[in-house]
Amino acid sequence: MNTLWLKHLHISLALLSGALFGLRAYWRWTRPERLQLRWVRLTPHVVDSGLLMSAVGLMWLTQQYPLVQHWLTLKLAALLLYIVAGSFALKRGKTPLVRALALLLAVSAFFSIAGIALHHSTTW
Ligand code: HEM
Repeated sequence: MNTLWLKHLHISLALLSGALFGLRAYWRWTRPERLQLRWVRLTPHVVDSGLLMSAVGLMWLTQQYPLVQHWLTLKLAALLLYIVAGSFALKRGKTPLVRALALLLAVSAFFSIAGIALHHSTTW
């Protein structure tokens, strides 16, 4: 089956997810009250759910799974780091230092995920 359309959807949702995270991180420092807006709280959940669903679809269609393909295991681990660090950068971090370090970690994790996705080979 042609998986190209799903891969395009997956990449678009990943870019949207990263952009929304970047916007919320920016507002966390400049206009924190904006994080309480209904659409700002809701949209990332919708986008991230779509991203995960497209990931599950791609795994199924390409028959590649975490714990079997190492690049996918690594990708999933980096995704968990992105989620946890992201929540400290936006919400849980109590001091500016913690939030700044968490932001750095989350951004690095996001780019690692994209890097792993773009440079994996069938042997790892
Ligand atoms: C922020 C999160 C994510 C980003 C930025 C991202 C990025 C990408 C990119 C750029 C590709 C295209 C790679 C290519 O051209 O071959 C891709 C494909 C793929 N991604 Fe993701 N992804 C994310 C999350 C996930 C998750 C959580 C999973 C599942 C554990 C996943 C599974 C896959 C699979 C199976 C493919 C298809 C690979 C292939 O065709 O061989 N992705 N992803």
